[in-house]
Amino acid sequence: MSLIDQVIRPDVRAMSAYAVADSEGFLKLDAMENPYTLPQALKVELASRLVNVALNRYPVPSYTNLKAKICRCMGIPEGYGIMLGNGSDELISLVAQACATKDHPAKMIAPVPGFVMYALSAQFAGMEFIGIPLKTDFTLDTEAMLSAIEEHRPAVVYLSQPHNPTGTLFEEKDVIRIIEAMSDKGIVISDEAYQPFAEASFMSKLPVYPNLVVMRTVSKLGLAGIRLGYMSATAELLAEFDKVRPPYNVNVLTEATAEFAMDHIDVFNRQAAIIRSEREKLAQALEKLPGVEVFPSRANFLLVRIPDANEVFEKLLSRKILIKNMGKMHTLLQNCLRITVSSPEENRQFLDQFSACIQ
Ligand SMILES: Cc1ncc(COP(=O)(O)O)c(C=O)c1O
Repeated sequence: MSLIDQVIRPDVRAMSAYAVADSEGFLKLDAMENPYTLPQALKVELASRLVNVALNRYPVPSYTNLKAKICRCMGIPEGYGIMLGNGSDELISLVAQACATKDHPAKMIAPVPGFVMYALSAQFAGMEFIGIPLKTDFTLDTEAMLSAIEEHRPAVVYLSQPHNPTGTLFEEKDVIRIIEAMSDKGIVISDEAYQPFAEASFMSKLPVYPNLVVMRTVSKLGLAGIRLGYMSATAELLAEFDKVRPPYNVNVLTEATAEFAMDHIDVFNRQAAIIRSEREKLAQALEKLPGVEVFPSRANFLLVRIPDANEVFEKLLSRKILIKNMGKMHTLLQNCLRITVSSPEENRQFLDQFSACIQ
């Protein structure tokens, strides 16, 4: 038996690592990043703050100032706090770690196709993941979700709002039915990674539903590189999740940069507003192209279906344009491509090349 066979879990040996495409030299529209950086004057101001960060010290794990600023800027309800993560990816893993049980694996339910980290976090922590297919128009199959909830009594239900990879914003009344059905069973996590582009949120509903958790990230707002996510819930729930958090999980450079960003949140909000309006323009332009179906999106990306997505994806690659080919992820996504909405110039560049490739 090899060392690897002796040491590494069989399910880990059987899987492949999270693939990130090499994007050097490409127009990068595959990862839902914000195309804008900070204005030059703010970059200089940020640099002068970072110079004074004590790199020789561990962070103070209460992160009091940063948390207070996020609570103020992001509409966290009065009396509610937040827990910070190294990206919301880390929060997703921590939730699974806190909820997993050994003898009768706790269950997690989420609509599929969905964000891969939910199922992965369940697998790594030893929870059972149950994916409930979306309807063919990518709306939520609420009845199927509700009957799976009754059958499996999951500890955790994830609803990404808007949903990745479809961009769909599920109907509020359907989400509420799910939260209510879960009230005697477990928590519902409203993953609002794309909230800046949806202008809709369950944050204000936290005081109404004690089993609701609202998770967010600064990644899509323009700070993907600093890796910072946060989630809010009742103090009792946060206290339990906090027990599995590594104490210094947010580093001092991220902490200082995020505090600076919160002081200048209007800059990021203006960028999000441009992207929302670009999304509408790009969707309209794509809809006019022959054979292109554009699904309604409330996020900073568009999911489209075309007759031969593999061929067009390869052609775009050869023209140095990187988008996401979704077909292999789930049968519902056959011939689907996901495109990040970018600046007016980059969207124009994409549209020109895409139009040429689908001819
Ligand atoms: C729905 C959803 N949740 C969470 C994340 C993770 O975000 P972060 O960059 O904060 O780890 C993503 C990233 O694409 C996402 O699509």
